[in-house]
Amino acid sequence: MKTTKITIGCDHAGYELKLKVINHLQARGVEVIDVGTHSTDSCDYPAIAHELCKNIQNGVTELGILICGTGIGMSMAANKHRGIRAAACSDTFSARLTRLHNNANVLCFGERVVGMGLAIDLVDNFIDAEFEGGKHARRVDMITAIEKDEL
Ligand code: RB5
Repeated sequence: MKTTKITIGCDHAGYELKLKVINHLQARGVEVIDVGTHSTDSCDYPAIAHELCKNIQNGVTELGILICGTGIGMSMAANKHRGIRAAACSDTFSARLTRLHNNANVLCFGERVVGMGLAIDLVDNFIDAEFEGGKHARRVDMITAIEKDEL
Protein backbone atom coordinates (compact mmCIF):
# COMPACT_ATOMS: atom_id res chain seq x y z
CA MET A 1 0.00 0.00 0.00
CA LYS A 2 1.39 3.40 -0.95
CA THR A 3 2.05 5.65 2.05
CA THR A 4 0.10 8.87 1.57
CA LYS A 5 0.05 10.12 5.15
CA ILE A 6 2.52 9.80 8.02
CA THR A 7 2.90 11.05 11.59
CA ILE A 8 6.24 12.52 12.59
CA GLY A 9 7.69 13.67 15.90
CA CYS A 10 11.01 14.68 17.42
CA ASP A 11 12.58 16.11 20.54
CA HIS A 12 14.87 19.15 20.61
CA ALA A 13 17.83 17.00 19.48
CA GLY A 14 15.99 15.86 16.37
CA TYR A 15 14.23 19.10 15.46
CA GLU A 16 16.47 20.36 12.65
CA LEU A 17 16.55 16.99 10.92
CA LYS A 18 12.79 16.61 11.30
CA LEU A 19 12.24 19.81 9.29
CA LYS A 20 14.31 18.36 6.44
CA VAL A 21 12.49 15.04 6.57
CA ILE A 22 9.13 16.82 6.49
CA ASN A 23 10.21 18.78 3.40
CA HIS A 24 11.25 15.56 1.71
CA LEU A 25 8.01 13.77 2.55
CA GLN A 26 5.89 16.66 1.33
CA ALA A 27 7.91 16.81 -1.90
CA ARG A 28 7.01 13.12 -2.32
CA GLY A 29 3.35 14.01 -1.95
CA VAL A 30 3.02 12.51 1.52
CA GLU A 31 0.75 14.35 3.96
CA VAL A 32 2.60 14.91 7.24
CA ILE A 33 1.07 15.19 10.70
CA ASP A 34 3.65 16.79 12.99
CA VAL A 35 3.12 16.08 16.70
CA GLY A 36 6.02 18.30 17.78
CA THR A 37 8.25 19.39 19.28
CA HIS A 38 8.31 22.69 17.45
CA SER A 39 11.64 24.21 18.49
CA THR A 40 15.09 23.32 19.78
CA ASP A 41 14.04 24.09 23.37
CA SER A 42 14.71 21.11 25.59
CA CYS A 43 11.80 18.70 25.98
CA ASP A 44 11.14 15.09 27.03
CA TYR A 45 11.15 12.59 24.16
CA PRO A 46 8.74 10.06 25.82
CA ALA A 47 5.93 12.63 25.67
CA ILE A 48 6.42 13.05 21.92
CA ALA A 49 6.68 9.31 21.35
CA HIS A 50 3.39 8.91 23.24
CA GLU A 51 1.61 11.49 21.07
CA LEU A 52 2.82 9.81 17.89
CA CYS A 53 1.90 6.31 19.07
CA LYS A 54 -1.65 7.42 19.83
CA ASN A 55 -2.00 8.41 16.16
CA ILE A 56 -0.87 4.97 15.03
CA GLN A 57 -3.04 3.16 17.58
CA ASN A 58 -6.08 5.23 16.57
CA GLY A 59 -5.50 4.57 12.88
CA VAL A 60 -4.86 8.23 11.99
CA THR A 61 -1.78 7.05 10.10
CA GLU A 62 -0.38 3.58 9.54
CA LEU A 63 3.26 4.64 9.94
CA GLY A 64 5.28 7.08 12.03
CA ILE A 65 8.77 8.55 12.22
CA LEU A 66 10.46 9.61 15.48
CA ILE A 67 13.73 11.52 15.63
CA CYS A 68 15.78 12.28 18.73
CA GLY A 69 19.53 12.50 19.35
CA THR A 70 20.18 8.81 18.84
CA GLY A 71 16.79 7.32 17.95
CA ILE A 72 17.14 4.99 20.91
CA GLY A 73 15.12 6.77 23.59
CA MET A 74 12.29 7.34 21.14
CA SER A 75 12.24 3.67 20.15
CA MET A 76 12.27 2.54 23.78
CA ALA A 77 9.35 4.80 24.66
CA ALA A 78 7.38 3.90 21.52
CA ASN A 79 7.80 0.16 22.06
CA LYS A 80 6.00 0.43 25.42
CA HIS A 81 2.78 1.06 23.49
CA ARG A 82 0.46 -1.77 22.44
CA GLY A 83 0.58 -2.46 18.73
CA ILE A 84 3.65 -0.36 18.19
CA ARG A 85 6.71 -1.94 16.61
CA ALA A 86 9.38 0.75 16.54
CA ALA A 87 12.80 0.19 14.99
CA ALA A 88 15.85 2.39 15.60
CA CYS A 89 17.80 2.25 12.34
CA SER A 90 20.94 3.87 11.03
CA ASP A 91 21.35 1.81 7.85
CA THR A 92 19.03 1.49 4.88
CA PHE A 93 19.02 -2.32 4.85
CA SER A 94 17.59 -2.42 8.37
CA ALA A 95 15.08 0.33 7.59
CA ARG A 96 13.74 -1.75 4.68
CA LEU A 97 13.92 -5.15 6.35
CA THR A 98 12.14 -4.00 9.47
CA ARG A 99 9.09 -3.33 7.28
CA LEU A 100 9.45 -6.53 5.25
CA HIS A 101 10.01 -8.89 8.18
CA ASN A 102 8.96 -7.15 11.42
CA ASN A 103 6.06 -5.10 10.07
CA ALA A 104 7.53 -2.16 11.95
CA ASN A 105 5.16 0.78 12.05
CA VAL A 106 7.52 3.39 13.51
CA LEU A 107 10.97 4.30 12.22
CA CYS A 108 13.34 5.98 14.69
CA PHE A 109 16.71 7.54 14.05
CA GLY A 110 19.06 10.08 15.57
CA GLU A 111 20.09 13.49 14.30
CA ARG A 112 23.39 13.03 16.17
CA VAL A 113 23.96 9.72 14.36
CA VAL A 114 22.83 10.11 10.75
CA GLY A 115 23.22 12.98 8.31
CA MET A 116 20.44 14.39 6.17
CA GLY A 117 21.20 12.26 3.11
CA LEU A 118 21.10 9.01 5.05
CA ALA A 119 18.00 10.11 6.97
CA ILE A 120 16.14 10.63 3.69
CA ASP A 121 17.26 7.22 2.43
CA LEU A 122 16.15 5.60 5.70
CA VAL A 123 12.72 7.17 5.31
CA ASP A 124 12.37 6.15 1.65
CA ASN A 125 13.45 2.57 2.32
CA PHE A 126 11.03 2.34 5.24
CA ILE A 127 7.93 3.75 3.59
CA ASP A 128 8.47 2.05 0.21
CA ALA A 129 8.74 -1.44 1.69
CA GLU A 130 5.77 -3.65 2.50
CA PHE A 131 5.40 -6.42 5.05
CA GLU A 132 5.97 -9.82 3.45
CA GLY A 133 3.67 -11.75 5.79
CA GLY A 134 3.93 -15.56 5.69
CA LYS A 135 6.31 -16.95 8.29
CA HIS A 136 7.08 -13.40 9.36
CA ALA A 137 3.42 -12.86 10.29
CA ARG A 138 3.60 -15.78 12.72
CA ARG A 139 6.60 -14.19 14.44
CA VAL A 140 5.06 -10.74 14.58
CA ASP A 141 1.93 -12.36 16.05
CA MET A 142 4.17 -13.84 18.73
CA ILE A 143 5.44 -10.36 19.59
CA THR A 144 1.81 -9.27 19.96
CA ALA A 145 1.14 -12.29 22.18
CA ILE A 146 4.07 -11.31 24.42
CA GLU A 147 2.57 -7.83 24.65
CA LYS A 148 -0.71 -9.34 25.86
CA ASP A 149 1.06 -11.76 28.21
CA GLU A 150 -0.40 -14.62 26.15
CA LEU A 151 2.69 -16.41 24.87
C1 RB5 B 1 18.56 14.43 24.42
O1 RB5 B 1 19.71 15.03 24.90
C2 RB5 B 1 18.82 12.97 24.09
O2 RB5 B 1 19.07 12.26 25.25
C3 RB5 B 1 17.66 12.38 23.33
O3 RB5 B 1 17.44 13.13 22.18
C4 RB5 B 1 17.80 10.95 22.84
O4 RB5 B 1 19.00 10.79 22.14
C5 RB5 B 1 17.57 9.91 23.81
O5 RB5 B 1 17.63 8.71 23.49
